[in-house]
Amino acid sequence: MTEIITAKTAGFCFGVKRAIDMACKAAEEKGRIYTLGPLIHNNDVIADLLEKGITPVNDPSEAEGCIVIRSHGVGRSTYDDIARLGLECIDATCPYVAKIHKIVDENTADGSDLLIAGDGTHPEVIGIIGFAHGHTETVNNCEELDKLKKSDKNFGAKSLIVVAQTTFDMCKWTDLQKNIKKHYTNLKIFDTICRATIERQREAEALSAQCDAVIVAGGSHSSNTRKLADICGANCPVFFAENGEQLLKEHKTGLERLLSSRKDVKIGITAGASTPAYIIKEVHNIMSEIIKDEAVDAEFAAAIDQMQKVRAYAGNRVKATVVAVNKTEAVVDIGIKQSGYIPAEELSANPNLTPDEVVKVGDVIDCIVTKVNDADGFVYLSKKQVDAQAGMEKILKAKEENATVNGTVTAVVKGGVIVTSEDGARVFVPASQSGVPRNGKLEDILKKEVGFKVIEVNEGRGRVVGSIKAAEREATDAVKAKFWEELEVGKKFVGEVKSVESYGVFVDLGGVDGMVHLTELTWNRVKHPKEVVSIGDKLEVTVKSYDPEKKRVSLTAKKPEDNPWTKFLNEFAEGDVVKVQVVSITPFGAFAQIIPGVDGLIHISQISLERVTNVAQVLSVGQVVEAKITEIDEEKSRVSLSIKALLEGGDADEDEASDEE
Ligand code: F3S
Repeated sequence: MTEIITAKTAGFCFGVKRAIDMACKAAEEKGRIYTLGPLIHNNDVIADLLEKGITPVNDPSEAEGCIVIRSHGVGRSTYDDIARLGLECIDATCPYVAKIHKIVDENTADGSDLLIAGDGTHPEVIGIIGFAHGHTETVNNCEELDKLKKSDKNFGAKSLIVVAQTTFDMCKWTDLQKNIKKHYTNLKIFDTICRATIERQREAEALSAQCDAVIVAGGSHSSNTRKLADICGANCPVFFAENGEQLLKEHKTGLERLLSSRKDVKIGITAGASTPAYIIKEVHNIMSEIIKDEAVDAEFAAAIDQMQKVRAYAGNRVKATVVAVNKTEAVVDIGIKQSGYIPAEELSANPNLTPDEVVKVGDVIDCIVTKVNDADGFVYLSKKQVDAQAGMEKILKAKEENATVNGTVTAVVKGGVIVTSEDGARVFVPASQSGVPRNGKLEDILKKEVGFKVIEVNEGRGRVVGSIKAAEREATDAVKAKFWEELEVGKKFVGEVKSVESYGVFVDLGGVDGMVHLTELTWNRVKHPKEVVSIGDKLEVTVKSYDPEKKRVSLTAKKPEDNPWTKFLNEFAEGDVVKVQVVSITPFGAFAQIIPGVDGLIHISQISLERVTNVAQVLSVGQVVEAKITEIDEEKSRVSLSIKALLEGGDADEDEASDEE
């Protein structure tokens, strides 16, 4: 049975469709506009556009009012010319081409040479050259590259930037890259071949490998269409035709000969990026006529039927595979010849997300058909509506289970904020439930990711009210519960000092505050905590004790390894003579510091050979004196000192000192 197989990628690419849409919209608004060169290389489409008031010109000086830059793009100087002429400029440069302009502009600014893999006479390549700062060369294949290397030794010697024309042949590009790497060292290669082109070429390659002949539909001036013909021509005979009329006129005989040669002939149809859908249909229809094969008719009828089904089921769900994503929309395949489009605003309920943050090429997603445009054969879809349905189901479940739902604050509205859940549901959160303090600004949480509890759902009106505060409270309670569960004496924390009181400081241990008493702050003697810490300081603390009932945690900031008493015992012994500083005077003697953190007592009876009745008359705070360590009481951590023991005939009376203390 004879079969016709139409390539899925055949027809308008995203860049061409976008340029035509922009031009048609401008013509509708302004009546007459100009395009710098024909918008696409297809005479039928150009004739249609002329009827709509869209006239191609070769130079901006031939235009009046408004001029459209086509998808191929132009060099920097052309933008300057348009501005100088005072023309309104609609820039329909394909974003993939604009990206090459940016790469070239930025990377050749240091004087690097530029090598373009492509056709030097093609408008796209001329436009790219117009953004280069250094010397530029173009090559179409490895032979031309070898010639260039031999003829100009200086080219690329310093540094070289390499890009490819968006429609450049993929196999040639792979070979060229290998050779460029052999010839040049200091180089940067940017893979700028358009994915739509790659897919179209790959499909053409596969299609021609399985078919007995391929019809390539498109204008002979279109470089990407000619390339498709070259690719297919390597595998099977190619019938190149701009439209159905030319196919009939030039190839009918050849096709009939092929069909009569044997049964079960497979004919492929592909088309360049500038071939409109109606020409592909026309070619298909003509082939069906030629073949007069019921099976073929059935296949085409099935395609039409499929389209009609989509139309009939507008409003229902379809499965769609993402085939391209750009700034304004995602292009999807819904299993029919016609392209499906999901505009950016229909991709997600979150206006902060760009299309490529929502979907990527290859994703299979559920969508709702919103509109079928019979004129251009496009199908418009919405992912947002499917998400909203799923989102509402999840919202109801979350309410039932009191679960926290995650989302992003997408707008500040009167009386609160709107949170868009991860599943696309819009939720109103009143200001009082936003978690923002009364004197705070709701704008501070805009674009932030938050968790919320669902507190009210009106399914009929699709209205959901949430509370960020309730989710935060639950999270804090959970943290606290975990804290008490895991708390144990000896556990160490590094916490922030929240407040400083005369008796100690409070330290945040991660949602729960603990207290470090004044005496537990340091081994040294301090009168007020502010002598050693301030609010905001980070403090290393250890849990001394805790009471989960009263929610109290006692901490110490003292480290055993810093214990001055241990240091003292290691360094000093009874009988040692030490220099000490008087730190306080009492009626029964004076305390003097031996080392920081260890004071000894000079009993009143051990100050002088003579009898002392008032310690302050003999010693004063701050005075440094020499004394003998007469006793170390390890159990009570006490040290007795004597000045008298160092005086002639003044042996310390240790018993007296101990008793009176
Ligand atoms: Fe753009 Fe690729 Fe078409 S570069 S114009 S989308 S072939």
